[in-house]
Amino acid sequence: MKPEDFSVLPAHVGVIMDGNGRWAKQRGLPRSSGHIEGAKNFRRIGEYAGDLGIKHISFYAFSTENWSRPQQEVAAIMDLFGDYLEEARERLDENLEKGIRLRFLGDKSRIDPRLVKLMDFVEDATKEMTKVNLNIAVNYGGQQEILHSVQQLAKKAAAGEIAPSDITLEDIESGLYTAGQPPVDLVIRPSGEQRLSNFLLWQSAYAEFWYSDVLWPDFSTDDFDQALLAFEKRNRRFGGV
Ligand code: FPP
Repeated sequence: MKPEDFSVLPAHVGVIMDGNGRWAKQRGLPRSSGHIEGAKNFRRIGEYAGDLGIKHISFYAFSTENWSRPQQEVAAIMDLFGDYLEEARERLDENLEKGIRLRFLGDKSRIDPRLVKLMDFVEDATKEMTKVNLNIAVNYGGQQEILHSVQQLAKKAAAGEIAPSDITLEDIESGLYTAGQPPVDLVIRPSGEQRLSNFLLWQSAYAEFWYSDVLWPDFSTDDFDQALLAFEKRNRRFGGV
């Protein structure tokens, strides 16, 4: 579809890329093949969302809990992420031309320093871009993110820089990885699961949810359109009447 086909678009979409493993299993392939297809689809849907004019989109690539998967699978996902980072560096001009700002949500301390170097490079090189904010959550946990922000504030309070009773919602928000970005309006989760799985907890406080049975590697731009059309019809009251 085209941007003009929608009466309202979400300011921030969160995407949980679920179902890669089942997609591979159904075909008798190793789980890593599902992640390869999943990574291709991440590029497709990310590009399509940008073309539609969605300004903020966050993809869940790797959670703090995903380290417990077999080492081989973790390595396969990190390799794909590394490939994407190399590509983002090589095609930097293309990203700049499209006005794409790349950001990573999550704790970088456990990620391979070689990848962190690339992450820092592309984040810095695209930081002036304002057309599309593409967030990739890697080693990300929503509860950990909130804890981290609150710990920073607690340190300030302990140092006497702020009074605990003066701490505001905005103070907590400004310590999140998404500081300055709008809250999530729409969370998309394919593959039949209907849960948030520690993804953008704070940011999704008033988000609409859209689920689908399609597995992530098969999730198409048509499916994305369906999610946006469903969002358009929701009556959002934000706690009002
Ligand atoms: C969930 O499916 C998917 C993941 C935990 C990994 C997602 C990673 C990628 C799409 C590739 C790397 C990312 C980038 C940004 C290039 P699952 O494995 O839990 O599927 P299942 O529930 O069917 O087992």
